[in-house]
Amino acid sequence: MSAQFSAPQSRQIVWITGASSGIGRELALSFAHDGHSVAVSARSADKLRELETASSNVSAFPVDVTDAAAVAATIAAIENALGPIDLAILNAGVWHPMTASRYDLEKATSSMAINYTGVTNALGPVMKNMIARGRGHLALVSSVAGYRGLPKGAAYAPTKAALISLAESLYADLKIKGVRMTVINPGFVATPMTERNTFPMPFIVTIDDAVKAIRRGLDSNRFEIVFPTRMAIMMKTLRLLPYRIFFLATGAIAKREPPPKTDA
Ligand SMILES: NC(=O)c1ccc[n+]([C@@H]2O[C@H](COP(=O)([O-])OP(=O)(O)OC[C@H]3O[C@@H](n4cnc5c(N)ncnc54)[C@H](OP(=O)(O)O)[C@@H]3O)[C@@H](O)[C@H]2O)c1
Repeated sequence: MSAQFSAPQSRQIVWITGASSGIGRELALSFAHDGHSVAVSARSADKLRELETASSNVSAFPVDVTDAAAVAATIAAIENALGPIDLAILNAGVWHPMTASRYDLEKATSSMAINYTGVTNALGPVMKNMIARGRGHLALVSSVAGYRGLPKGAAYAPTKAALISLAESLYADLKIKGVRMTVINPGFVATPMTERNTFPMPFIVTIDDAVKAIRRGLDSNRFEIVFPTRMAIMMKTLRLLPYRIFFLATGAIAKREPPPKTDA
């Protein structure tokens, strides 16, 4: 079920990437339910068309975020069809658990191409338009996994750390230009992305709770939306630990990893 908020003061044009599934999909339905005009993007055109049939406020704009030219053309098509984008939620992402012994260069490279460059491909043109108009709101979906490198995070965590740094780097400049920047750092959320995880996921929340936290955060003036609270406290504490203690903790986690398969 999508989280519902009070009727909007004004109908906004919202663009969400990674909207064919999980958090992006439910956010799209929540904004559409509240009367906003929502442009949804992802590669799976069929799933986006299904979303269109679920709400007349949803319009599908399929695109692969790794294709910079196609993303720029998609932004132009959205603004042409619906009007200037007021809020862009750059959410498309992939997660490949990866340890040192199972390091997969192709997956590590494509993770960065989707999770980080996929965001900058969208951010470049959409931010330029917002600056020219002197208004707009950008929201980058990162993760608490971007706070510090944890076991299994070799492909994913660097992409999310880069996004947090990107958002921080742009925040002050954008504020002067009248454009808001928000970084969204979820803890574990029960979505298709996490359903394959075989390890414990502390404090995991439902998509509905995630959407509520994100919608509340976007309506506030905060730079960072981080949830759930207990995960935020745990991960922020981890960030403060000196390496000696931090690696004692991560060493204990890494020891649980089964030994790599060998051909022998
Ligand atoms: N679930 C969690 O616990 C969690 C925690 C922290 C952060 N996050 C972040 O939240 C975001 C959404 O995750 P989720 O849990 O909702 O995952 P999900 O259900 O797997 O959804 C991922 C979305 O990204 C899209 N996507 C992947 N590659 C793409 C590409 N090349 N071009 C365009 N779209 C692409 C997928 O659509 P197509 O396959 O159709 O392209 C899908 O719509 C991700 O950035 C993730 O890293 C999730």
